Amino acid sequence: MSATQDLEDLPGVGPATADKLQDNGYDSYQSIAVASPSELSNQADVGESSASDIINAARDAADIGGFETGTSVLERREEIGKLQWLIPEIDEMLAGGVETQSITEVYGEFGSGKSQITHQLAVNVQLQGTEGGLHGRCIFIDTEDTFRPERIDEMVRGLDDEILESEIDYRDIEGELGDEETMEALVDDFLAKIHVAKAFNSNHQILLAEKSLEIAKEHEDDEYPVRLLCVDSLTAHFRAEYVGRGELANRQQKLNKHLHSLDRVGNLYNASVLVTNQVQSNPDAFFGDPTKPIGGNILGHKSTFRMYLKKSKGNKRIVKLVDAPNLADGESVMRVENEGIKPE
Ligand code: GTP
Ligand code: MG
Repeated sequence: MSATQDLEDLPGVGPATADKLQDNGYDSYQSIAVASPSELSNQADVGESSASDIINAARDAADIGGFETGTSVLERREEIGKLQWLIPEIDEMLAGGVETQSITEVYGEFGSGKSQITHQLAVNVQLQGTEGGLHGRCIFIDTEDTFRPERIDEMVRGLDDEILESEIDYRDIEGELGDEETMEALVDDFLAKIHVAKAFNSNHQILLAEKSLEIAKEHEDDEYPVRLLCVDSLTAHFRAEYVGRGELANRQQKLNKHLHSLDRVGNLYNASVLVTNQVQSNPDAFFGDPTKPIGGNILGHKSTFRMYLKKSKGNKRIVKLVDAPNLADGESVMRVENEGIKPE
């Protein structure tokens, strides 16, 4: 169904009015819902009272302007889960771990460990609450072809024995810790709870985020609901496709829309949203770190938790919390090992 046909579902909107609305940028219920009657009346050639009717219907349909009570806001916040990195220093810095119902942005230069973190959290999210997980599954939107099942294999085997034993038991897997068949079955069970899709370009990426809503809904009442949505990398396609200053506004608008749907998955289904971002060099910065994340301000507003990764000696990485509501900025250290990301 085209957007124009959608608009024709509004009272008093026929094909001609729908076209005029469309031509003037009113291509969704949302955009009509926030318009004023006089504005709409002028631009779509309808009387002001018809314009009011159209706007009210669009508001109902788009569910805009809905308030909720403090009680239900509180109820939703009480469900917020914390997903642990299983690195005590970092989990402490995050006051327990990566929050659900929020977007966390991890940014840093190439090789700083962004993709390693997305893989590790795709494993950790599946663990039971007592082990630092959220007992959930993961959706992984892979834009740079970096997802490696072999890496998940290594990271699962790299979990502490205590955790492994309890997962083998909990998942009803036959055999004992260390038996190769048992370990393979365990790894397969972890892999089966990671839904990976490659995004070929930014439009495809946007579609996959919308598709994620469906997957989350499908598993809402599952034993393992979606509790983590990773996008690695959030910005690479946008950066490659929208080149030059003239494309900047367009790029930000698309990215903003994309972040909005990621945010929806997080909020509606109580999932953590983890996005990665490269840094761009900023020649204007004479002081401090001469790098800043791609995406500028819009991403700054939306990604509620921001973490900056910095390479250090060998496999050591500095992890900085640079922006988080109600948390102090801080700095920790991790190592990228064969067994996964580990404490220093
Ligand atoms: P870009 O995507 O290129 O921007 O980099 P990134 O930040 O995603 O880096 P990534 O997480 O891919 O790599 C971080 C570090 O982990 C690198 O120094 C790699 O050498 C290391 N690494 C990657 N895979 C493995 C692995 O299988 N074993 C070990 N021990 N280290 C790995
Ligand atoms: Mg990467």
